[in-house]
Amino acid sequence: MVVPGQQDPEEKIFLPPEDLRANAHVPDFNSYLTLYKQSIEEPEEFWRNVAEEFYWQEPPSGQMLQYNFDVTKDGVYIKFMEGAKTNMCYNVLDRNVLDLKLGEKVAYHWEGNSPGHRLTITYSQLLKQVCRCANALKQLGVKKGDRVAIYLPMIPELVYSMLACARIGAVHSIVFAGFSSESLAERIMDAQCNVLVTADGVYRGEKLINLKQISNEALEYCREKGSLTVQKCLVVKHYAFRINGNDTCNKLQTPWNADCDVWWDEVVESASDECIPEWLDAEDPLFILYTSGSTGKPKGVLHTVAGYLLYTSLTFKYVFDHHHDDVYWCTADIGWITGHSYITYGPLANGATSVLFEGIPVYPHVGRFWEIIEKYRVSKFYTAPTAIRLLMKYGREPLQKFDLSSLRVLGTVGEPINPEAWLWYHDAVGHGRCPVVDTFWQTETGGHVLTPLPAATALKPGSATLPFFGVLPCILNEHGEELEGEAEGYLVFRKPWPGIMRGVYGNQERFENTYFKKFPGFYVTGDGCRRDKDGYYWITGRIDDMLNVSGHLLSTAEVEAALSEHSAVAEAAVVSRPHTVKGECLYCFVTLKDCRELNHTLMEELKRKVREKIGPIATPDFIQNAPALPKTRSGKIMRRVLRQIARNEKDLGDLSTLADPKVVEVLLSQRCEAAA
Ligand code: PRX
Repeated sequence: MVVPGQQDPEEKIFLPPEDLRANAHVPDFNSYLTLYKQSIEEPEEFWRNVAEEFYWQEPPSGQMLQYNFDVTKDGVYIKFMEGAKTNMCYNVLDRNVLDLKLGEKVAYHWEGNSPGHRLTITYSQLLKQVCRCANALKQLGVKKGDRVAIYLPMIPELVYSMLACARIGAVHSIVFAGFSSESLAERIMDAQCNVLVTADGVYRGEKLINLKQISNEALEYCREKGSLTVQKCLVVKHYAFRINGNDTCNKLQTPWNADCDVWWDEVVESASDECIPEWLDAEDPLFILYTSGSTGKPKGVLHTVAGYLLYTSLTFKYVFDHHHDDVYWCTADIGWITGHSYITYGPLANGATSVLFEGIPVYPHVGRFWEIIEKYRVSKFYTAPTAIRLLMKYGREPLQKFDLSSLRVLGTVGEPINPEAWLWYHDAVGHGRCPVVDTFWQTETGGHVLTPLPAATALKPGSATLPFFGVLPCILNEHGEELEGEAEGYLVFRKPWPGIMRGVYGNQERFENTYFKKFPGFYVTGDGCRRDKDGYYWITGRIDDMLNVSGHLLSTAEVEAALSEHSAVAEAAVVSRPHTVKGECLYCFVTLKDCRELNHTLMEELKRKVREKIGPIATPDFIQNAPALPKTRSGKIMRRVLRQIARNEKDLGDLSTLADPKVVEVLLSQRCEAAA
């Protein structure tokens, strides 16, 4: 690695601001290099030092790390500190309250969808609420190792219930509350969850969503499939529906099943606020989180207790350069990995004060983010490129109404950030004073793997820069040969770090096939990547059949399966098309049965089908009639050609392997110019 800018003084680079360097945890590039070297050359000692900050019922002894990444040998596995005993919840709550005397410190400023709905939760209050919920879950029959599905909006009860699971050794499986009933049901069935935690409903902006109705439909779906494992459904009454006679209350009908349903208030509020934590093995499961898979069926990514604790805690501390007087805000939803690692576990492990936000960026006005930053004096802010691009559209005026001088570090995650959005974030939001940390990682990596450190790394807009401690990235070509220096190819990792996934829940074969089979000896991210002359990494996007819509990974196969379920569809092929706000969007080609016409009604039906099967995030943007799809002589759909048509690229590349080249001409002549 060389100091950026040395070889090319013309290149646009941003040096860390002096004032941050004064008391930063990693104050300069040399400190980064020294720590990085140690983390790679002496990983056992490096992680043992990190582990010392935490409470161990039985401390780590013996080998810190055991693993096999080579799929050609017996079974891929990763184990950190196996044999040590601890509890995640104890470390992120009791340790803060009892040992570090942070009981009175604010853990969360909760800000509801409607301004004016807010709550302040200190560390001791959080501990008590979590213990109550843990006792209630036990009362409902939940034991160590059981899986609990959580389908909740961004309300404090979401944090209470996930930490309650962690406390009693149950494995949480959080499903983003924007997913459809079928998606929820599939996740519940795959993990065989015993309990479902949900809410009566929620407002997202002005839209009312009846979560209990969706939950009921999901359980009904499980029953129809003959695999209803959920015995109890714990239902939170959302604050928005608490006031009797209130208009919004009356709009919501809460369907109730007396055999199974229990109101949160009735069992949790009356439960004891003390609960002895279950001491777990370092390698016991902590949670399952589903992520799209290229075959269409979501994968249950499994994370375990201790490695995830160490990794989320350390990345949070260094990547946001966390200090005790910070107010940190990550705008993600806890239903995604960003929320798990950087709203719940990482910040709490550091005793941080965070904003927990239920709403959306543009409700009730387009300055909502900036208003919240001013209100809580947020110093570290973490959001997604799609949100930045959305807010950019409204110009600088909404920003100018608020005081953003508290900001120190800005972060981004979820998809490649285009330099224009990066520069706007840096200049308009950060007033040129705040480094932008572009963090590359995945549900599977547990925490940041390629990322700048705010006081140590010179920044290049659009690059996730350099590896975090313990992470060894490589770039391979198609033949699996490692490329040195400036290069472009497959991004893989040579060695595990503590936060990497331990498996696909209940499916070792899929774990090995998806991540380790293509290049034995490496973890394969599925992303393309370029390394520049300074050793900086630039993510070039997915190289499998996945696409990234507003920072959410979707599988084209899953959307195709949903479209094909419609009785009018004979065949469907879905590709990605660039989108100015969402990054990428869905362009769907459908071949209809019996010469059906693709009229407005059918388009709406197809969109509804996808929303029902997956959720609103997967709603197609473009739907084009395809009398036939371009296929090779062996019948394989040539997606490369469809992608070019969707993007309106004139050069369609080599078409010689097509069975019938005329198909392409027809598709070109019927291209969609406007969104459906
Ligand atoms: O393609 C990469 C993209 O998001 C994928 C991971 O998605 P998911 O598991 O849902 O986790 C998202 C939040 C961590 C990656 O394979 N991605 C994520 N962060 C970046 C990114 N692409 C470019 N730059 C990033 N900073």
